[in-house]
Amino acid sequence: MTQGAEWWRSAVIYQIYPRSFADGDGDGMGDLQGIRERLPELAKLGIDAVWCSPFFRSPQKDAGYDVSDYRDIDPRFGTLKDFDDLVAEGKKLGIRVIVDLVPNHSSDQHPWFQEALKSPKGSPARERYMFRDGKGRNGELPPNNWPSVFGGAAWTRITEPDGTPGQWYLHIFDSSQPDFNWDNEEVREEFKDILRFWLDRGAGGFRIDVAHGLVKEKGLPDVEEASTTMSGEEETNKPKDRTKPHPFWGQEGVHEIIREWRKVVDEYDDRIMAAEAWVLPLSRMAKWVRQDEYHQSFNFGYLEAQWKADQLKEVVSESLVEFGNVGAPSTWVLSNHDVIRHATRFAYDQVPKQGDGIGPDYPQPDVAKGLRRARAATSFMLGLPGGAYIYQGEELGLPEHTTLEGKYRQDPTYFRTKGERVGRDGCRVPIPWEAAAPAFGFSKTGESWLPQPEQYGEYARDKQDGVAGSTLELYKSLLKLRKDHNLGLGSFDWVAEYCSEQSLGYQNNDILVIANFAGKPIELPAGEVLVTSQVGLDGVLEHDQVVWIKL
Ligand code: NOJ
Repeated sequence: MTQGAEWWRSAVIYQIYPRSFADGDGDGMGDLQGIRERLPELAKLGIDAVWCSPFFRSPQKDAGYDVSDYRDIDPRFGTLKDFDDLVAEGKKLGIRVIVDLVPNHSSDQHPWFQEALKSPKGSPARERYMFRDGKGRNGELPPNNWPSVFGGAAWTRITEPDGTPGQWYLHIFDSSQPDFNWDNEEVREEFKDILRFWLDRGAGGFRIDVAHGLVKEKGLPDVEEASTTMSGEEETNKPKDRTKPHPFWGQEGVHEIIREWRKVVDEYDDRIMAAEAWVLPLSRMAKWVRQDEYHQSFNFGYLEAQWKADQLKEVVSESLVEFGNVGAPSTWVLSNHDVIRHATRFAYDQVPKQGDGIGPDYPQPDVAKGLRRARAATSFMLGLPGGAYIYQGEELGLPEHTTLEGKYRQDPTYFRTKGERVGRDGCRVPIPWEAAAPAFGFSKTGESWLPQPEQYGEYARDKQDGVAGSTLELYKSLLKLRKDHNLGLGSFDWVAEYCSEQSLGYQNNDILVIANFAGKPIELPAGEVLVTSQVGLDGVLEHDQVVWIKL
């Protein structure tokens, strides 16, 4: 565990997707007991904290991002005691436990929403959510044109308690996820109390879901371009005008809420808040991490960059300038539970837009190319100063499950688009621990809530642990060197000699990192080679390869 009050400035945080990390009770669904039992493996990896995706009580319509009780653990994942035990085990191992707070919306099964459905129009219970009358002669049309991120309209009409067709409620995501009304004082007070509940229990902090949502533009005007990504854009990988105001993403009013939360979090010693804010350009994202707001924000600009020298050069420079301008560390991230795993993504020139996923009908990836580039990309990322995020399984080089059949799919995106967008299940498949064990060691019984592809056995942790040249050992070396050379708090300079259309070089403290993206091999300079993304460096750096040299 990195010590000190500002530990997060250089921390490496490992994302656990509880359903798919480790199943302690054998029902095929990962749980808190499983996480606790496997935590020593993460200590060996060399991370500072884990962020667990939601494990709160929930009908699981969106894998737990639909919370019905913010102060309890869903029985599928365990009990509050299991949470306390996990925090205690983390303390012993030097790993903080960060929880995932979902404040934009609750589950439709949350007692507040149920109360709202039973209460009359205009009642205080309805005021906690976003109820509106419909348009059209009989209110039969939705109040505006907002789309749901998961497909279809962002509005659903209710039946009033007297049986007549009634008002509509807003849900930027699934219809089972009604949006809260953040102008409502009760909602604001409730969430401050929820923060305290988990901070008192020893949570290391919060990853805040949809941190750029929450506040909606007054009058709820139509959106100009009705797109369904978390950034409000139709496609990634394309330069766009990203500065246009959007009626539900990135409203100014959200900052006042963040400041209130920051005061609560600052009542405790060294806890943090990290924003899931899909707002670009980074100059806008940086507003989320001003001194009295979030500690960190996920760098989605970095995540969206392709494995290309020009794109990475631009986004790294921009990140360090923009976050630096507000005194915040930059973060770096390549994968999470919403995007195609980078070991698969980098095998393509064009990938489906964020959240759409890859199914059996999509051209299948060149797995070896993807893995080679993923190892290079991680080696490039972990030398950068700031904080970094790792998504479970990437330390094994795990690819996306790209042939998952429709009958297994669970992402609401798949259902709301009638299979047109297959969604995010492919990056959420339970991870392999032991090649020869049932469900590759994920669960003792062999049960697994999503089927694991057979090839996952090749990536199992026990096949890589202690094996020179494995992806797992590469991650361990990178993380150890990162710490030993204090790179998280280090300095940064591009090294012009290595910066071209096909290569990049930068220096952080006493380490020179060189990346070869394509083309001809690069002669290595003098210095000690500390680590390389591919074994077998014969004095030259090949394509899709990264090296760390001690100067
Ligand atoms: C972002 C989360 O990362 C995603 O998994 C979830 O579906 C949406 N927010 C809605 O909560």
